[in-house]
Amino acid sequence: MSTKSKHEGGAVVAEREYSSELQLRQKAVPTQRFSEVRKRVPIALDEEKRQKSVDALNQVLVDTITLRDLYKKHHWQVSGPTFYQLHLLFDKHAEEQSELVDQLAERIMALGGVSYAMAHDIAENTRIPRPPKDREEPPVQISRLLEAHEIVLQEAHAFAKDASDTGDDGTNDLLVSDVIRTNEQQVWFVSEHVVEMPLAKA
Ligand SMILES: [Fe+2]
Repeated sequence: MSTKSKHEGGAVVAEREYSSELQLRQKAVPTQRFSEVRKRVPIALDEEKRQKSVDALNQVLVDTITLRDLYKKHHWQVSGPTFYQLHLLFDKHAEEQSELVDQLAERIMALGGVSYAMAHDIAENTRIPRPPKDREEPPVQISRLLEAHEIVLQEAHAFAKDASDTGDDGTNDLLVSDVIRTNEQQVWFVSEHVVEMPLAKA
């Protein structure tokens, strides 16, 4: 693309010329650094409050992405007599966590921040312990999921209170109504599978 000026009826008009050639391997400085929030966003929350919420939401985001992936791992690798119901349940929960991932990332952007996105950054920053690549029996899979849920719930409770204190009601609502409620419900459904019950005779 090139820019030039020409005279039309005495006025100076900028004219851009475009090419139909592909512009490949393009690079430029970032438009916004990860560590920065926009100085001015007209949502009646100052930069300091938005920065605090963005940092908190990014932590919940990386842990939610990790929990979603843990559900997918277990969805694929589950085995045994409860295969079918756990296979379906784990996938349902993965989809619900995926919905939370999108809501969290979009909230971060709406606050003028930059969300984590890529696997490398998720792995480096999650608080959820890394599971082995190996296949594990269902009670171990479930224990891992419950521990991961509790990590998310602990931080979501703390960050929701912080957001309430700073007056970031939207972030507080997302953490309470979506993150906390979804995780609590999933903990219930999963944890009932690690209660010892007779299968056929009391
Ligand atoms: Fe599947």
